[in-house]
Amino acid sequence: MRPIKVGLLGLGTVGVGTVKILRDNATEISRRAGCEIMVTHAVVRNIDKAKAQGFDIELSTDASTVIDNPEIDVVCEVMGGEEPAKGYILQAIANGKHVVTANKALIAIHGNEIFSLAQDKGVMVAFEAAVAGGIPVIKAIREGLAANRIQSVAGIINGTGNFIMTEMRDKGRAFADVLAEAQALGYAEADPTFDVEGIDAAHKLTILSSIAFGIPLKFEAVYTEGISKVSSDDVQYASELGYNIKHLGIARKTQRGIEMRVHPTLVPKRRLLANVDGVMNAVLVQGDAVGPTIHYGAGAGEMPTGSSVVADIVDVARTLTADPENRVPHLAFQADQIEPLPVLASHDFETGYFLRMQVEDRPGVLADITAIFGKHEISIEAVIQKEPEDHESVATLILLTREINEGAMNDALTALNGAPSVVGEVSRIRVETLA
Ligand code: NDP
Ligand code: HSE
Repeated sequence: MRPIKVGLLGLGTVGVGTVKILRDNATEISRRAGCEIMVTHAVVRNIDKAKAQGFDIELSTDASTVIDNPEIDVVCEVMGGEEPAKGYILQAIANGKHVVTANKALIAIHGNEIFSLAQDKGVMVAFEAAVAGGIPVIKAIREGLAANRIQSVAGIINGTGNFIMTEMRDKGRAFADVLAEAQALGYAEADPTFDVEGIDAAHKLTILSSIAFGIPLKFEAVYTEGISKVSSDDVQYASELGYNIKHLGIARKTQRGIEMRVHPTLVPKRRLLANVDGVMNAVLVQGDAVGPTIHYGAGAGEMPTGSSVVADIVDVARTLTADPENRVPHLAFQADQIEPLPVLASHDFETGYFLRMQVEDRPGVLADITAIFGKHEISIEAVIQKEPEDHESVATLILLTREINEGAMNDALTALNGAPSVVGEVSRIRVETLA
């Protein structure tokens, strides 16, 4: 077979990793792909910066040198952002080119439109690197678990956030200091609030939900909370109760619809997910036939993400001769079998809760608080009351509840926040046993 020519849109962290892997492992990769794979062109904004990489690639600031170039078979979009990336990808597809992308924001928000055009044009759009960096979890769900009705997906799917939380917890480092290191290591998004506020994880969860349940991509329906409100007190008290706090993306198929949520979560320390630290990611997929499976690896960085991009390019090379109708569908299910199942609003979620509050240190307070829980039919699983510090008149109360409907918990929280014995705002973190 003739060599496959790849044109890159972007030559930053992921682009450089992709080129290095294709160069360093060229023989092994062509043994797998059945042909040579060559990166011939790259489009960037700053040519001098790209030249300094020392690759033998034609560089340009003009995207048409890749997307309109008849020599290029595969356009590899590793520049990020919605525009101009979306316009370039649609143009490349219109020109009959296969596309590989690491851009989860683009797939989560515009994937339905992109896949529809790709379907019409009979080209592939591959996006393994878009979720969990180097972990081949898209392939695992789409192909390896194709026999299953997937029941739930829960994962640590942002490397930067997990790196920050781990370094702050284990080394007491300051948030800004760890974030700067994550940026220097190439983990963080161009706008790091995407990592910290859960937006990047929500992009990834949107994609995982679609391939797990066969639903259209629906980013706007994901409930999203970031890590910025988790305090070191929460981490310490959760630990006393036997939990670690992790920033999880959770998608679950229920009788009433699909739950999609990203938020800090208490996870029992005995679970594998509770012990996934640093830039590592892990995704727990529960299938009805296989049971629980865990997919673990580096969630960000030059070489791990390059590994996923190159795997997609190899996939494209292998299927170039296959009839488009017989390829693995973009979203795992055949295009005419995607179902618009309802996505639940947050007040319909069912989960446990960890609540931390400051209460007045006087008799009868605990009875007042438990009465509020009783009124909303919320069962308490554990309570810790901390002695007030010397000269203080408030005590810290920590409660763990059993699983309860989030609407009921919201009502209870409103009552707690208005109760005379509660001082300040109640801090709430959801709990998942992942049993
Ligand atoms: P970088 O910022 O390191 O690199 C971006 C590259 O794209 C640079 O070469 C930049 O050129 C180029 N670029 C950006 N905008 C334009 C434009 N308008 N026209 C031409 N070139 C442009 O990003 P990453 O490599 O980290 O990320 C790329 C994509 O991969 C993103 O979608 C990201 O979400 C995703 N991703 C990243 C991971 C990671 O670990 N970093 C992991 C998984 C996915 P120049 O430098 O000249 O400005
Ligand atoms: N910024 C992302 C992360 C890159 O830290 O997980 C990998 O998608």
